[in-house]
Amino acid sequence: MNPYRLPRTAVPSRYDIWLEPDLTTLTFRGTETVALDVVEPISDVTLNAVELTIESASLENDRGETIRATPTMDDTMERCRLTLGSPAAPGRWRLRLAFRGTLNDKLRGFYRSVYKEPTGVSRTMAATQFEATDARRAFPCWDEPSFKAVFAVTLAIDPALTAVSNTAIVGETRENGRKIVRFADTIKMSTYLVAFVVGELEATDATMIGRTPLRVWCVPGKKHLARFGQHIGAASLAFFEQYYGVPYPGDKLDLLAIPDFAAGAMENLGAITFRETALLVDETAASHAELERVADVVAHENAHMWFGDLVTMSWWNGIWLNEAFATFMEMLAVDAWKPEWQRWATFGVSRAAALSLDGLHSTRPIEFPVTSPRDADAMFDVLTYEKGASVLRMLEQYLGPDVFRAGVRDYLETHRLDNADTGDLWAALGRASQQPIPAVMDGWIFRPGHPVVTVSREGGELVLAQQRFNYLREPLPPAAPEPDQPWQVPVQLRVHGRSAVEERVLLTERQARRRLGEPGDVVVANAGGHGFYRVRYAPDLLEALLKRLDLLVPIERFNLVNDAWAMAVAGLMPLTAYVDLTARFREERDRNVWSVLTASFYAINRLVAPAERARLEALVRDRVAPAFAALGWTPRGGDDELTRQLRGDLARALGVLGNDAAVQARAAEIYAGSLKQRGSVDPNLLPAVIAVLAQAGDAGRYEEFLAAFRSAKTPQDEQRYLYALAAFRDPALLRQTLDRTINGEIRTQDAPFVVRSMLMSVYARELAWDFVKRQWDTMDGLYPKHAMRRLAEGVTGLATRELEADVQAFFAAKKPQFGGKVLAQYLEQLHVAVTLREREAAALSGYLSKLG
Ligand code: BES
Ligand code: ZN
Repeated sequence: MNPYRLPRTAVPSRYDIWLEPDLTTLTFRGTETVALDVVEPISDVTLNAVELTIESASLENDRGETIRATPTMDDTMERCRLTLGSPAAPGRWRLRLAFRGTLNDKLRGFYRSVYKEPTGVSRTMAATQFEATDARRAFPCWDEPSFKAVFAVTLAIDPALTAVSNTAIVGETRENGRKIVRFADTIKMSTYLVAFVVGELEATDATMIGRTPLRVWCVPGKKHLARFGQHIGAASLAFFEQYYGVPYPGDKLDLLAIPDFAAGAMENLGAITFRETALLVDETAASHAELERVADVVAHENAHMWFGDLVTMSWWNGIWLNEAFATFMEMLAVDAWKPEWQRWATFGVSRAAALSLDGLHSTRPIEFPVTSPRDADAMFDVLTYEKGASVLRMLEQYLGPDVFRAGVRDYLETHRLDNADTGDLWAALGRASQQPIPAVMDGWIFRPGHPVVTVSREGGELVLAQQRFNYLREPLPPAAPEPDQPWQVPVQLRVHGRSAVEERVLLTERQARRRLGEPGDVVVANAGGHGFYRVRYAPDLLEALLKRLDLLVPIERFNLVNDAWAMAVAGLMPLTAYVDLTARFREERDRNVWSVLTASFYAINRLVAPAERARLEALVRDRVAPAFAALGWTPRGGDDELTRQLRGDLARALGVLGNDAAVQARAAEIYAGSLKQRGSVDPNLLPAVIAVLAQAGDAGRYEEFLAAFRSAKTPQDEQRYLYALAAFRDPALLRQTLDRTINGEIRTQDAPFVVRSMLMSVYARELAWDFVKRQWDTMDGLYPKHAMRRLAEGVTGLATRELEADVQAFFAAKKPQFGGKVLAQYLEQLHVAVTLREREAAALSGYLSKLG
């Protein structure tokens, strides 16, 4: 029995909610009537409520009976218990409640968001964020995903303001100087999907997708940034209706940009909320990466309208059904919208992030027990999203896209307006494919970790073997070693001999042998790159591959580098051999392959002693400069969007990590030119130029960037300058930035991420760690709820033995409650880095000094 779960003795089917927010006093009043099915005689009713004052409560039924109810709040369990004056018999009842609350500044529940108008005047609006368990902060409710009900919301607001909720407006009247806005009934859905937003809002004209009007909403003065988001919104909605074969479940779709927003976006049915950077963008001034972000987030949330909103996981342990699917569908939709972006190739970066966390002993299965609200929050990580989406992609490729889609449609039709769990999905996919899905998939969903597949040749035979991949030999105490069972691994092989041959092997045992190819052939395992596993080639096979990189598609080269880096981190390949391997990629022109190469250089940079940094900078220049020289500073007519983005990425790597004086000087010229003539620099280059100048910048540059941050005209521009403030080297300037993370100058939605980036920077990390230790409680009091968990991830960059000990001691004393296995994962990641450093420092130092 989970003490957090509500009894099912009374089950709600409908909420009529009336709310009156006051943006001046920052409070709200509300009443609600909840239609309840009482299933057995009860003497009390327990539901969720927290930080609410319940003013009155009673039960009534159609027979004219009324029962007085006395509320008792339980703050730790976030519940309210209503003790009934007399027992209620089974049957239909109406629960009537009146309550009050405050519009908090913690970006959860019913909260306030403050922004400046174009004129500089400060304004307040109200918005909601309920997932996972914060609807209970706005109105008393059965706040668990399986208590689905219909919601009928009425908002009583200042007549000068606008209100948006999940459904269309069905009535607007005036009462006592208030505008009464009545919204249509929602579909039967979970509490965490309810939303309301009240403020001075502006909307675009609607785009019609079939019968569904789609609009973008924002605070005044930003409507010109809504076009791109509206385009992908419309395109992805149409795509999903097609793919799912089920109509959009709402009566309209609003996308709302909220100035203060804890997550990236939230899939409230019909009223999706976003942080501004994830929805509003100037298409002519944004980089490819910035546009891709908007497209991703919008497509992701739209995908949830079916996966999550229409069909919902029964409990938070199954959140992967929401998030992994939305992430998978996001890729499909963006890929269909802009095939030239090669979204599935870039998905390799997400898969790599998941593999990286999943290589820890302290990883968890995708589906994992959830007890408390904290545990529910801790589920929103790369395992749920990126590992989940990766294994779905692997399964889709294994079954074939059409069969997979048929299974998805079956699942949605079978469970629409209801809840489901992983077994239900397997059953639907099993019906579509006539294959034993649980046998193939359970290992990927219910067991932690993933395999490394080793590939070697014995004469005419290829030998494939699997075992669990771990960075560390042994788990950190107090955890014990886990049993190692084989996975069912779909291994796609491609052998280049006289011709190219593909063969699929479902590796179910620890080892398999195939007569395939001949000695000397080039062998690609994980061909096409869809598999969620690592590949370790025998030395001769690796060498053969590296000689013929031209035979690999970009995602295969990406995986080759990424897996080699993982082998080096795990001690299965000397770090110097990895660094040598990177020299084979000077001709590389794929932006994702470069991103894994540069990410590894950043990681190595955190391991070398300050005295060695100059040598590492030289190494980076040696690797990156040829590719950048080939591209040049100025975009050429024929460059596609990905090439333009690559140019920016390489300039950044050279200027920041390579500390290349020429690049820094040229960046300064380009930046000066861009100030004189807006739009004179390619939007893919400008963010890189800003980052390069920050790294090399003095106090004058800091003041300049600070002013630019304050007066930025787009959310993306603001972000670039904000993160630039974290990237200077001068300790005095870095201290200023740290102060700004707690003095109100940097929004609390951003500050934790800024601190995290400083913990990861070799120039800022010691200062930042000192600051974090001193200000932990202040930050914890100031920031939204996920924030300290996100911020603390930065400690994985504190990769020295001394700092590691200090981090362990700090957390042992502080005992932060991140939920799930989060803290153990951070500490293990840090330990992996320190272990690598201690094992390889001397050899690396020797290697770098020989480069001259
Ligand atoms: N359902 C989430 C929002 C969310 C995240 C609520 C964590 C509560 C806790 C939403 O669908 C989501 O996944 N948002 C992502 C962006 C997405 C494109 C991956 C986010 O907020 O980062
Ligand atoms: Zn999501």
